[in-house]
Amino acid sequence: MPNRYREPIDRQQSTASPYARVVDLDLSFVRSQFPAFGAPGLSDQPFFENAGGSFACAQTIDALHRYYTETKVQPYAEYAASATAGEQMDASRTKWAQALGVTSDEIQFGPSTSINTYVLAKAFGEILGAGDEVIVTNQDHEANTGAMRRMAKASGATLREWRVDPATGLLDPEGLAALLTSQTRLVCFPHCSNIVGQENDVATLTAMAHKVGARVVVDGVSFAPHGLPDVGALGVDVYLFSLYKVYSVHQGLMVTANGITDDLPNQGHYFNAELANKRLTPAGPDHAQEACAGAVLDYMHATHVHHGGSTDDDLRTAVASVSQLWQMHETQLVEPVVGWLGDHDDVRLIGPSSISGGSAGEMHRCPTVAFVPRTKSSAEVASALVARGILCGSGDFYARRLLEGIDVEPDDGVVRVSWVHYTAREDIDRLLGALQDVLAAN
Ligand SMILES: Cc1ncc(COP(=O)(O)O)c(C=O)c1O
Repeated sequence: MPNRYREPIDRQQSTASPYARVVDLDLSFVRSQFPAFGAPGLSDQPFFENAGGSFACAQTIDALHRYYTETKVQPYAEYAASATAGEQMDASRTKWAQALGVTSDEIQFGPSTSINTYVLAKAFGEILGAGDEVIVTNQDHEANTGAMRRMAKASGATLREWRVDPATGLLDPEGLAALLTSQTRLVCFPHCSNIVGQENDVATLTAMAHKVGARVVVDGVSFAPHGLPDVGALGVDVYLFSLYKVYSVHQGLMVTANGITDDLPNQGHYFNAELANKRLTPAGPDHAQEACAGAVLDYMHATHVHHGGSTDDDLRTAVASVSQLWQMHETQLVEPVVGWLGDHDDVRLIGPSSISGGSAGEMHRCPTVAFVPRTKSSAEVASALVARGILCGSGDFYARRLLEGIDVEPDDGVVRVSWVHYTAREDIDRLLGALQDVLAAN
């Protein structure tokens, strides 16, 4: 098999380098922070279903254990255990605000991204009506489109669909430009599809929508595990992602920026209407998960320091540098897989086979790689890969509209292999060996 790996990048030569002295992400350090790599069934079989949910880092697990052991009481009362619980919840919010470049009032925790978008849609439905226009895509996971479509229908607003290129699954900004009008009130799109893997240019698309006065809701679920953006700098009104895919707890995190929390009608208890963090999260907080949500940022800060960053660096600086380091590592591992799949006539690779990303200003090709076997079913190929110790799956991954839009039969769907920064080159070698075995050998 030809060696398709890029040579390790010498960061002393590279303008992309976040660190002065480090050449590559230190995988032994990274993997030592994830107890799952010592667990039976996970330690010896490469995990390629990270887009479904990632392993939790030790900092997250330890924080949960501590919370449930020491402070599992109603928070914000005067006794010590309760006060500490409340302080931990506040600290999580503050840390996430720093990491994402926003304010604490703009951070909302909810049970999942699906419920966060559901509540958002309910709120938009109370202010939109006939004459207003809502744009959604057919590239999204159903969470960022279904509730908005139903909301448009119920409120009488006009729904417009920004469609992917049927051959590539990519969204063309020109397509959005053609749909925007002075009546557009809301535009919803993904930072990155959970099937196609290519980052969309959120800042540019947001600026286009803002020009006509529309609000912008971005689903960052498939992007955030590969790097935490400066959400404030992106300019979006709402940015959503799921912490359980970002090495953390099972919560949805929603950033509500540019005053949108006040503009949307309160969805919480009437007597909490003045509290920014309660207006759009009627489910009420999961205390333990909120308190422990910030622990993953300790992991990222530790990674920063381990690679030469200063202990004094703020969280935004640390997560930006670490995100860049992750992406450089991921990009090296994407190339051989999309190259292999792109070269095989027996499979249709979804998304781009060329690689960009890993340096500031470029769009990242996230390591979420989907393909359709031409002579076997996706289910059959996924089972054969699992039988060879490759932990992956097949199906529609709740992106049925996308699959229909690119002419993939959604019931069988695609085979998806997805990885993150803790994935090793040896895992990719095992994946390529198994693919060769399952797809190329007849
Ligand atoms: C791209 C994308 N958006 C939204 C969701 C929904 O997230 P949650 O499971 O937190 O509701 C998922 C879940 O897989 C997803 O992959």
